Amino acid sequence: MLYRLARTGFFQLDAEKAHDLAIENFKRFNGTPLDLFYRQQLPHRPVECMGLTFRNPVGLAAGLDKNGECIEAFDAMGFGFIEVGTVTPRPQSGNDKPRLFRLLDAEGIINRMGFNNLGVDHLIENVKKAKFDCVLGINIGKNKDTPIEKGTEDYLICMEKVYQYAGYIAVNISSPNTPGLRSLQYGEALDELLSSLKAKQAELAEKHNKYVPLALKIAPDLSDDEISQICQSLIANGIDGVIATNTTLDRSIVEGMKNANEAGGLSGRPVQLRSTEVVRRLHQELGDKLPIIGVGGVDSFVAAKEKMMAGAKLVQVYTGFIYHGPGLVKEIVKNI
Ligand SMILES: Cc1cc2nc3c(=O)[nH]c(=O)nc-3n(C[C@H](O)[C@H](O)[C@H](O)COP(=O)(O)O)c2cc1C
Repeated sequence: MLYRLARTGFFQLDAEKAHDLAIENFKRFNGTPLDLFYRQQLPHRPVECMGLTFRNPVGLAAGLDKNGECIEAFDAMGFGFIEVGTVTPRPQSGNDKPRLFRLLDAEGIINRMGFNNLGVDHLIENVKKAKFDCVLGINIGKNKDTPIEKGTEDYLICMEKVYQYAGYIAVNISSPNTPGLRSLQYGEALDELLSSLKAKQAELAEKHNKYVPLALKIAPDLSDDEISQICQSLIANGIDGVIATNTTLDRSIVEGMKNANEAGGLSGRPVQLRSTEVVRRLHQELGDKLPIIGVGGVDSFVAAKEKMMAGAKLVQVYTGFIYHGPGLVKEIVKNI
């Protein structure tokens, strides 16, 4: 109810302004009595995954808190885990505005943010200051101006810096808004990236005396064969988990709707079925060898359950959270 009121106000604003205002308010309300607007007690529904214990299976997806500014607020909402980022080695401003659009009737969003973030060092400072109980995932990427052939170096720089502060590290090679990034999902490029990350993980595990699992985040726009090849690569390289999916370039479901022709990645309800299908395909290939984190259009308990029945061990929300607020997390966790 409270969120519906707030949403009416936020939805009067340009989408990115509303996003920035929400982040500002979460920061400002944190630790004050005003945090009652979002603080909630949720039942304990622990899940073991990637060697970690999650207090419940519902996480915040990457991209909402890119710089790790509101970890405590999202922790207070009861998320089982929070994935901050995508963060890159150096700060970058992202694409020109406007770059974030609502598709109201479809409960969708199109974004072409382009990894706007304040850089990995800034993120780490925020993480160090935050006090929280849930698992923290840190999602890493490459700078736009790093040539794709040198992309691995960016991931390794980020990994080295975030390692000791992360519960798990998510490797994002599936954003449609960084030119060339998705090419890392295929063939030798993927194998090379994953084997370099795995070697770095072994080195850092020894150095910090702590094993931090690695999860690869993939796109929904992949053929069955491409999914099979990714699975083989994940297994061969001993990757710890897979996050499916990022946003889609496909517009067939939203054709004709306002904003549907904006460039970028589409999320929310319009990607729900496709994301679930990718989770199902992954599960057919991987069985129980590797856990799957399902994301894409989770906007209700039923949608979360569908992802889990398709094989997801955990789920994440982004667009559903924008449309339904913290109550969505409660609805899912309560019923699971
Ligand atoms: C505005 C916006 C920004 C996003 N930024 C990132 C990002 O930086 N890194 C990432 O891995 N995914 C990013 N995503 C993708 C989401 O994490 C998620 O995978 C996708 O939106 C599908 O989930 P949803 O339907 O619940 O939104 C972004 C999504 C949106 C809507």
